[in-house]
Amino acid sequence: MWLTIIIFLVAYSNAENLNSPSSEDEALAKFSKSCILKSEYLELAGGCVAQFYADMIVDYMLEYSQKAIGLAELRNVFGFAPPGPWKPRRDGPPNETELAALSTVEEYYELIEPQYTQLSRGNRYMLEERVTKVIEFYDRKFPEVRNYYRVKFQKALGDRKVDRDTVDEMIKEYKEIGETVRKAVDELIDSSVHCQRELEKREEKSNKDIRKEPKAL
Ligand SMILES: *[C@@H]1O[C@H](CO)[C@@H](O)[C@H](O)[C@H]1NC(C)=O
Repeated sequence: MWLTIIIFLVAYSNAENLNSPSSEDEALAKFSKSCILKSEYLELAGGCVAQFYADMIVDYMLEYSQKAIGLAELRNVFGFAPPGPWKPRRDGPPNETELAALSTVEEYYELIEPQYTQLSRGNRYMLEERVTKVIEFYDRKFPEVRNYYRVKFQKALGDRKVDRDTVDEMIKEYKEIGETVRKAVDELIDSSVHCQRELEKREEKSNKDIRKEPKAL
């Protein structure tokens, strides 16, 4: 009887540990319910388009930039150099000749880094300079995003040696972790639409109140 209870309690407390979210998970969940203000949208768009276009383009920028932060952190966990300026887009995996010419794991990573089309020189839709600004915005307002990637990568890599196989596996991790962040960013965008609407309503109300004031005097 006692043994059963003890086994139950041990199993229960372990399950609790497994189920309770880590602090980086909690921080990301909180992030997904935060608010980006209209004025911030205008600023991120570069300050020369009206709200409608700013809303459209900044949503894309937020997505590109979180990917860029992820790649920077992936390099960081390996101890590789930071990303630096955008490079020309690569199509397809490296060929045998290219692979044979490599001398370090870092060179291997450079060949297979998933920059996608978005983070490559020659992108016809997005300026590197704007993405850089949005990355700065994330780091200033939502440092939990970079931290999320950093902690998840550290946990995934553990104390393994960094070789080509590890690099391949970690790129898979990057894609999975990135998908979680992408969903959080989508939620943040929805959440921002709602909070902007609420703020507008409140502003309208207080403007009305101000207009009423002279009567009271
Ligand atoms: C391998 O790729 C490089 C760079 O794209 C190219 O210059 C080279 O011709 C390719 N070699 C073969 C054997 O396909």
